Amino acid sequence: NIIPVILSGGAGTRLWPVSRQAYPKPFMQLSDGQSLAALTFGRALKVATDNTVLTVTSRDYYFLCKDIYQANPQADMRKQYFLLEPSGRNTAPAIALAALQTQQLYGNEAIMVVMPSDHLIKDEELFIDTVKTAAQQASQGFLTTFGIYPTAPETGYGYIKAGQSLTAEGVSEIAEFVEKPDLATAKKYLASGEYSWNSGMFCFQVGALLQAFEDTAPDVLAAAKNCFDAVDSNQQQIEFNADLFTQLPDISIDYAIMEKAKKRAVVDSRFDWNDIGSWNAMAGLLDSDESGNRIEGKAVTVDARNNYIRAGDRLVAVVGVDDLMVVDTTDAVLIAHKNKSQGVKDVVQFLKAKA
Ligand code: GDD
Ligand code: MG
Repeated sequence: NIIPVILSGGAGTRLWPVSRQAYPKPFMQLSDGQSLAALTFGRALKVATDNTVLTVTSRDYYFLCKDIYQANPQADMRKQYFLLEPSGRNTAPAIALAALQTQQLYGNEAIMVVMPSDHLIKDEELFIDTVKTAAQQASQGFLTTFGIYPTAPETGYGYIKAGQSLTAEGVSEIAEFVEKPDLATAKKYLASGEYSWNSGMFCFQVGALLQAFEDTAPDVLAAAKNCFDAVDSNQQQIEFNADLFTQLPDISIDYAIMEKAKKRAVVDSRFDWNDIGSWNAMAGLLDSDESGNRIEGKAVTVDARNNYIRAGDRLVAVVGVDDLMVVDTTDAVLIAHKNKSQGVKDVVQFLKAKA
């Protein structure tokens, strides 16, 4: 039994001003009008054994999610489960709660496929094949990751060093898992050719995962069980108690489990994968014109090169400038240098601090 678990949490602050607290990244419209949440849900349904998908998200996004899911004709809404968080406590608690619910519904043998709702994957067929390979490995108790071929010394990713080969389909033991190394280390890993990026998706057998929590993050598991004890876990929408929820340690699955666990595997993954984390990544989805400009919406460029422009309701014109990102919305405009796409989140920090 394969149960996809969709994580839809963070606000995606590097995509300000389009991604906002009230309307975050997974729900933003891509250039083809779809949202990442809709695409992720579509992939999840294709992976699911019997249409059941668990979604862990903020209670604020419940209706946004539900509307998107309902619009998918393949979805049986009677089989969609929502675990609603009163506040964000990071991925380890979100995944622990999903594991407890899956255990309740399908037992310890069930396989969870954890999928963040903000990844773009175009080659669905290869993705589904790769998930099947991972599920096979996970059913033997391995905590299984998807290794992505690394193309830059990104410090926002986890790095996986493959150990002994386990199967002919490109599955290996994990020799080392390092979450978000510093730049010097990331450069070293990239140059060595021995590391892949962690995709942020995972495949776990419920029993093996809960045992790993017991071993390396028992505090997270205990707090998650407390949250569950206070609700009716057979419901399709579970809203957790806010006080109990804040007792959950704020830690990611990568630090809590993946860096430390013993029985881990990585599947060599060849499907295209884009963690739409910044405007640069968003720009990368578009074709450029002859001057290297990438444009969404209505814009005019004169003597301007290599800019990314996302116009909202208004027309945007740029003259004589290169290498800019211009993002216009009704109540805020972003103008940034292309090389500073990671700095956009500082704007949000600044605004939060002022508020
Ligand atoms: N429901 C819920 N609740 N979801 C959450 C929460 C939470 O509290 N926190 C994060 N998420 C969701 C995010 O929305 C995102 O879809 C996913 O979990 C991963 O969280 P990020 O905060 O985006 O993690 P990251 O990008 O820093 O790092 C992870 O992903 C990288 C690849 O994109 C790690 O797994 C890295 O190792 C990996 O390389
Ligand atoms: Mg991310």
